[in-house]
Amino acid sequence: MKSSDVRKKFIEFYKSRGHAEIPSAPIIPLNDPSTLFTSSGMQPLIPYLLGEHHPAGVRLVDSQKSFRSQDIEEVGDNRHTTFFEMLGNWSLGDYFKNEQLPWIFEFLTKELGLDPKRLYVSVFEGNDAVPMDTESIEIWKKLYKDVGIDAKVGERIFTYPAKKNWWSRSGEPEKMPPGEPGGPDSEVFFDFGIQLGLHEKSAFAGEVCHPNCDCGRFMEIANSVFMQYQKQEDGTLKELSQKNVDFGGGLERMNAAANDNPDVFYTDLFAPIIAAIEQFAGKKYGTDTRETQAMRVIADHLKAATFMICEGLYPANKQQGYILRRLIRRAVVKMHQLGGAGVKSELGKAVFLAVGNIYDGVYFSATDAEFTQKAAILSEEILRFEKVLKTGMAELKKHESITGTVAFDLLQSYGFPWELTYELALDRGQEVDRDEFLKEFRKHQDLSRTAAAGMFKGGLADHSEATTKLHTAHHLLLASLQKLIDPTIKQRGSNITAERLRIDVSFNRKFTAEELKKVEDLVNEKIKENLKVTRAEMPREAAEKIGAQMEFGAKYPDRVSVYMVGLTGDKAPEAVAPGEYFSAEFCGGPHVAFTGTLGHFTIQKEDASSAGVRRIYAKLS
Ligand code: SER
Repeated sequence: MKSSDVRKKFIEFYKSRGHAEIPSAPIIPLNDPSTLFTSSGMQPLIPYLLGEHHPAGVRLVDSQKSFRSQDIEEVGDNRHTTFFEMLGNWSLGDYFKNEQLPWIFEFLTKELGLDPKRLYVSVFEGNDAVPMDTESIEIWKKLYKDVGIDAKVGERIFTYPAKKNWWSRSGEPEKMPPGEPGGPDSEVFFDFGIQLGLHEKSAFAGEVCHPNCDCGRFMEIANSVFMQYQKQEDGTLKELSQKNVDFGGGLERMNAAANDNPDVFYTDLFAPIIAAIEQFAGKKYGTDTRETQAMRVIADHLKAATFMICEGLYPANKQQGYILRRLIRRAVVKMHQLGGAGVKSELGKAVFLAVGNIYDGVYFSATDAEFTQKAAILSEEILRFEKVLKTGMAELKKHESITGTVAFDLLQSYGFPWELTYELALDRGQEVDRDEFLKEFRKHQDLSRTAAAGMFKGGLADHSEATTKLHTAHHLLLASLQKLIDPTIKQRGSNITAERLRIDVSFNRKFTAEELKKVEDLVNEKIKENLKVTRAEMPREAAEKIGAQMEFGAKYPDRVSVYMVGLTGDKAPEAVAPGEYFSAEFCGGPHVAFTGTLGHFTIQKEDASSAGVRRIYAKLS
């Protein structure tokens, strides 16, 4: 079965059950300050899972481009990738378990033709606050019974604690920040069979194999989250006003199951990329474990890099750009490991174009010059890193053993990410003080984690009052910049914590102090005027026509949500002219009801973000 068939069948299946198809959000969520990348289908839907009305209705379906940086280290086995497509369906307070579980079972067994005997399921075993999900157990028992299988708990239906069967963006209930939605989930696993010996060959050999043991024999292909709780400030879980279903299943994995091959890199979503790598290295995929792993890393990382570049990202030393740089550099190190006569920058280009062909018409127009020209961003970064590698390697050679301090120096001086130094040194047969290295490495990881946690702290994800106010101030700021300085200024990024807002805007010089002062004054004036904030739903074309600001690079559904500040007159929101409001933006919220509650607005600083993009920090007091 082709991947495009799986994608199409899924969308059609849910459309015929009353779901509206919504477009994939960008992988780089420019207007969601809570995270660097879109890592699941539900992420762009948070406001709607929390109760806001979605313009497309209460039943949604899509295929979402997703990237999980936390999985970088896992890539190399048969099923982990950083980039994947998540097929998703949602009930926003509409249907619940009784519909969701039978539907997904029907989709997997009838549409994909998976043998029910090879499907195993898991449900939440319960904890002090939330009971065991016996309702799902009963539904699964009946579904299996209908196909002649006596599904017993512990044999076919497995119960697990929150670590495995609870889903929120931050994991188990204890880890959820206030405001975060989550709930128990029920996963479906496909059994690739004991005959492949995947368990015995894995790190889990000797332990009892079960659907969630991570050895690779069982692959999780479907996850229905019953998103019905929200974490409270006091640490408890409260039932949401609506019970939601949030379903996600990896397209790559579903396709692997449909083709009964546990290696997702054999699917047509990877095959042309692997072929390019084979040609580069003059080696065959699947013949040598270490080389196969290297090929998988190259394939996955360069695919993810292609998607990021196509959304306008450049390799950089901060934020998303740093992850992009790290992906490309790690792929280059793996190219060195693979060896072969090919030119590395050419392989980068070949993979870029192969990715274009695989997703042609879905996410890219592979033959458009706009697409093909961007391949140079990837190949140039490879060339740049090749130069860095050369000097860095010379430095590496000087040391017989690599201490944590040497590794740190390499990181500082050459931009060698930690794991690259480690891999390179090992490759050269150099001794590495592993313990010390890992100590340093963990310290570094802790720092990144703290930084990542900082991004969550008070972000829109928690919908705290302080963040919500800064979000409204953010809209006022963008409108003020456009009105006072240049109407062509566009938002290029944003990040809002409870303490401050940050906006990236297109502008090709430094703003002067006078300009910033004028902008600050105008925002404060608009706050004093206590303008009403109005949310309206309207057709996309109407929102474009009234001049609502759009998120750069985003695809929008046919009906959109628009937030308007200072709407005057009594015309319907979709009928106004740009002069009849102060600000209008395509936005999912949340916002304050009136600007008067915001307090005093101050611009803290302004600097360059990247070429042609300025970054402004501001706060409310
Ligand atoms: N949010 C869940 C996941 O990412 C299901 O969509 O697995």
